[in-house]
Amino acid sequence: MEERLQKILARAGVASRRAAEVAISQGRVSVNGQTVTEPGTKADAERDEIRVDGARLQAPAAPVYLLLNKPKGYVSTRQDPGRRPTVMDLVPPVAGLFPVGRLDITTEGLLLLTNDGAFAERVTHPRYEVPRVYHAKVHKIPDADTLERLRRGVRVEGDLLTVDRVRVLEAEKNAWLELTLHEGKKHEVRRLLEAVGHPVSKLRRVGIGPLSSRGLKPGEFRSLTPSEVKGLIDPKGGHVKTVAPAPARRPHPPRRPPNRPQGDKSASRDHRASRERRPSDHRPSDHRPSDHRSSDKRSSDNRRPAAGDRRPPRGRPPRGRPPRGRT
Ligand code: URA
Repeated sequence: MEERLQKILARAGVASRRAAEVAISQGRVSVNGQTVTEPGTKADAERDEIRVDGARLQAPAAPVYLLLNKPKGYVSTRQDPGRRPTVMDLVPPVAGLFPVGRLDITTEGLLLLTNDGAFAERVTHPRYEVPRVYHAKVHKIPDADTLERLRRGVRVEGDLLTVDRVRVLEAEKNAWLELTLHEGKKHEVRRLLEAVGHPVSKLRRVGIGPLSSRGLKPGEFRSLTPSEVKGLIDPKGGHVKTVAPAPARRPHPPRRPPNRPQGDKSASRDHRASRERRPSDHRPSDHRPSDHRSSDKRSSDNRRPAAGDRRPPRGRPPRGRPPRGRT
């Protein structure tokens, strides 16, 4: 089947569609020995010999979609020049696998990994507004005006950083906040909270669209179900509402044995701890740190959304808007 070259390259995990377009226009891609510089050019991945920088494109591998609960101390790249541990050390060695966006080395929480470039593009593009939910421990307790500022947006180093939702989960000397964002700018949560005078001491991503970290301990991963993949790339997937989570009442036992990409026997050695879980709402208390001392009752009371918790619906950004930095 003939498809646009950039789509073929993205699906093969060579590059995002946009990066593939650049590679094509730079004359780095050839089809059947002919250099192609027109990004719209079509080819057949099965029939044609497609090369990028001289290397033959492999037949597209079966797509793999993993959800990892990244622990602190791991960088979200395929390779780190500084030889620090990377998220790739935590998942099976699937050809072409890469992290979708990134979390800071000190941030814990949900990170998708895939070998499907088009999926990654779709999930990270701000146009599709896939919500990411974070729990952040901040210095002191933000007041109502500060929360409102976060909703309205704060200009930081030229970027307008804004949250879709924010609420206080717990407030003692310092506070735990739950923030929902959809843009994915670099260090956006830390920069935003620092800018309003509440620097972050701990940060976790606990939700991506319909996915939650429930049941996935730091360092564990699982495969996405087909309906979760669909939920993320479906046009409506970007509008999955991150419903206020129910408080945790009791731990859920593992439902199925670890899930591994087909044919990857080596996975069993290093990833026995991984567990297949059902998709579910995230529950903040599942991710509570050991210094989180208050009772479930208290935190569930605190989690009740305050009036005006949500920002009013905003207009969709126009189609074709250039991509921004993504997380
Ligand atoms: N925002 C941040 O500041 N850091 C992350 O790791 C993710 C979002």
